[in-house]
Amino acid sequence: MERMSRAPGEGTAARSRAADYDGLAEGYTAENETSLVNAHYERPAALALAGDVAGRRILDAGCGSGLLSLALRERGAVVSGFDGSAGMLAQARRRLGEDADLRVVDLGGPLPYPDDEFDDVIASLVLHYLRDWGPPLAELRRVLRPGGRLIASVDHPFAINLMHRARGPRPDYFETVNRLETWTMGGQTAELSFWHRPLHAMTDAFTAAGFRISALHEPKPVPAARELFPDGFHLLDTFPSFLFFVLHAD
Ligand SMILES: C[S@@+](CC[C@H](N)C(=O)[O-])C[C@H]1O[C@@H](n2cnc3c(N)ncnc32)[C@H](O)[C@@H]1O
Repeated sequence: MERMSRAPGEGTAARSRAADYDGLAEGYTAENETSLVNAHYERPAALALAGDVAGRRILDAGCGSGLLSLALRERGAVVSGFDGSAGMLAQARRRLGEDADLRVVDLGGPLPYPDDEFDDVIASLVLHYLRDWGPPLAELRRVLRPGGRLIASVDHPFAINLMHRARGPRPDYFETVNRLETWTMGGQTAELSFWHRPLHAMTDAFTAAGFRISALHEPKPVPAARELFPDGFHLLDTFPSFLFFVLHAD
């Protein structure tokens, strides 16, 4: 994957960009299936944190092309998923079948599920696309039963700040700021909009939404990836790229 980043243009940062992945759906899906960061790092960590999911009703928020949903379903969970990109959801439907409960929904708005519907919500690598976490977290909490879990992974804020320091001007870690990245994957290119926020802004948002923080997790890549990706493995084995939260809706 190639990625180039730049500061946002005037007026582009605030609008919802939930469909940005439409132009990257096939390329992202193919890479996600086997990449170091997804297949050997993020997804195994999410599944390990979820633990024994047999019989649990799980919402895969920002499900993308459905690889995590499939793994959860294979472990006996009853999975629903949504994504803001119709292109990504089409990939998920291809993988999970016509009967799967999959919907095109923007996490920035109301969710089409009843209160207390799920035992767990898993939000893998989606929250960092949103500027304001208040309404989305309130919605995720609403659809969780009391005692249910939200397991969320995001770009590690230290890694993002460090990456930008290495490239030039020193960004302010403590600011919540937008950045635009142009990703090229499998011959497709799309401009994606990310929001960096400091760690305390994340924990404040979770507690303000009524979640209890049960664990922070900085996973390492699975050992089997060492031989497949020698360079990338060393980087991820010695510095975190993603940060995981396990939260409870008490
Ligand atoms: C990095 S991909 C991760 C996909 C999947 N969770 C995984 O780990 O394989 C991010 C996904 O979040 C979705 N997304 C971004 N912003 C969103 C929003 N506002 N509402 C719903 N989905 C969104 C994208 O369309 C994309 O499928």
